[in-house]
Amino acid sequence: MDQSQKKLIAAKASLDYIHDDCVLGVGTGSTVNELIDLLPSIKEKIQAVVSSSLATTTRLESLGFEVSLLNSVGDIDVYIDGADEANKHFHLVKGGGGALTREKILAGAARKFVCIIDDSKQVGMLGKFPLPIEVVPMAQSFVARKMVKMRGQPIWRENFVTDNSNHILDIHNLKITNPVEMETRINQIPGVVTVGLFAHRPADVLLVASDTGVRVMENK
Ligand code: A5P
Repeated sequence: MDQSQKKLIAAKASLDYIHDDCVLGVGTGSTVNELIDLLPSIKEKIQAVVSSSLATTTRLESLGFEVSLLNSVGDIDVYIDGADEANKHFHLVKGGGGALTREKILAGAARKFVCIIDDSKQVGMLGKFPLPIEVVPMAQSFVARKMVKMRGQPIWRENFVTDNSNHILDIHNLKITNPVEMETRINQIPGVVTVGLFAHRPADVLLVASDTGVRVMENK
């Protein structure tokens, strides 16, 4: 099975978590795009849908969904999103697509966070995938110097502006041995909008697609 087929079966498996009258949060990325394309088949179950990026909003609207604002719906029942890396503690690295800030807000507002990945995203230690950090543009060099002190190699994501008009630094070669502590430390740097470490609010469910099917892992 190739990676795109795995993304599709992970997305299909996540439909089981969408219950009647569901306020659904939708993430961003190629795995979630597979999910979005399946949503019309269960449209009657969705009371409201909230989006984590302009790209996701555009795709949802092209399929006839009216996208609600988080401020209008209150909490989200189920948030479904992909990830760039996941460890066995359900901690994630996210933000490869640059939508990490809104993704983290929706994950934080969700009663249940279902993460859909293929098995290439499962890692022993987070950090092989460069860690994205959304920064206020004027703080970019300052935050980069702080990250060098934390033994990372920051690379500015050139010609990329987030949905919130900010910049992204991708931090290479970090050894993330304690994701909760590192998330806290990076959050404290002035100018950091969001770090793409999802450890304080990990996934509740990981749906991991492999050649043998989809493995359901629940964070209890
Ligand atoms: C978007 O900003 C990211 O957090 C995505 O959720 C993540 O990069 C996974 O994307 P793919 O499903 O395209 O791998």
